[in-house]
Amino acid sequence: MSNLLSIADLSRKEIERFLDRAESFAEVSGREIKKVPTLRGRRVLNLFYEASTRTRSSFELAAKTLSAEVINFAASGSSVEKGESLKDTVQTMSAYDPAAIVIRHPHAGAAALVAGWTSAAVINAGDGKREHPTQALLDVYTLRRRLGALDGAKIWIVGDVMHSRVARSNIIAFQAMGAEVTVCGPPTLIPRGVEALGCSVAYSLDGVSDADVIYSLRMQNERMTESYIPSLREYARCFQIDGRRLTPRQILMHPGPVNRGVELSAEVIDSPQAVITEQVKAGVVVRMAVLYELLAGSGPSAITPDPSQPSVASERQPA
Ligand code: NCD
Repeated sequence: MSNLLSIADLSRKEIERFLDRAESFAEVSGREIKKVPTLRGRRVLNLFYEASTRTRSSFELAAKTLSAEVINFAASGSSVEKGESLKDTVQTMSAYDPAAIVIRHPHAGAAALVAGWTSAAVINAGDGKREHPTQALLDVYTLRRRLGALDGAKIWIVGDVMHSRVARSNIIAFQAMGAEVTVCGPPTLIPRGVEALGCSVAYSLDGVSDADVIYSLRMQNERMTESYIPSLREYARCFQIDGRRLTPRQILMHPGPVNRGVELSAEVIDSPQAVITEQVKAGVVVRMAVLYELLAGSGPSAITPDPSQPSVASERQPA
């Protein structure tokens, strides 16, 4: 595999290979000195044309933990503001000979275009409303640690499915891992024909108590050109996950950033059912695994053991 553009390109086996690799890197994260020499001397270019907190910082940390040199490029403040095109920017930055380009862009298909312009490995860190494959991998990783396996798990993805690349990638990834997915939201925020991906659709939270996992989505105001809901208050009344709707046996996920008081109430964000911080933590080891698999091949051992560091017990939760 030379690029990671879409989760749909991966088989269950390939997803599992990334997850197993990420597990091996979790041990590095537990060491006092969190660094392995795997990508020493190689360059990773982070090319971000959209806002990002978690994805950008975790890709940077992942590359640095693997000892790569990192170039962070944000469109704002760059020559993009002078009108430089994506193609010219990629070609300019390619002069630095990056081994990998991590790209986030508002247009669907941008990562695939970049892959056609460079010999570097291209990783899609979100292309418009289309896909966010590394988010899907880290969410599957987080759930696998909690549940042992996703087979048969009932997962409800709730909220603005229409504008969410996370929803699309996660529907595909969760189902590839054996879960049953239901998407839920007001009809205006559920894309027509989404059932073709294999999921069920619900237009109210009435059946959500059946879910083992509730995956809440942010209202993507920046991608909306018209009004899709009567008001945020009305939306919250019908679709907010709060203390009444979340039962103690359920797991609550969210990709971040959260609109507190809209899709989630403050009490559930801070509840023991929420694994939102675990998702963020998983982002680093999963992105290390992606960089490793794309750049360093698929040998048996991803990490050089550091004999001076005691090994740390696995963080796996009891099933
Ligand atoms: C998501 C994104 O940018 O697609 N955030 C993330 O990467 N964790 C979700 C969002 O912005 O709502």
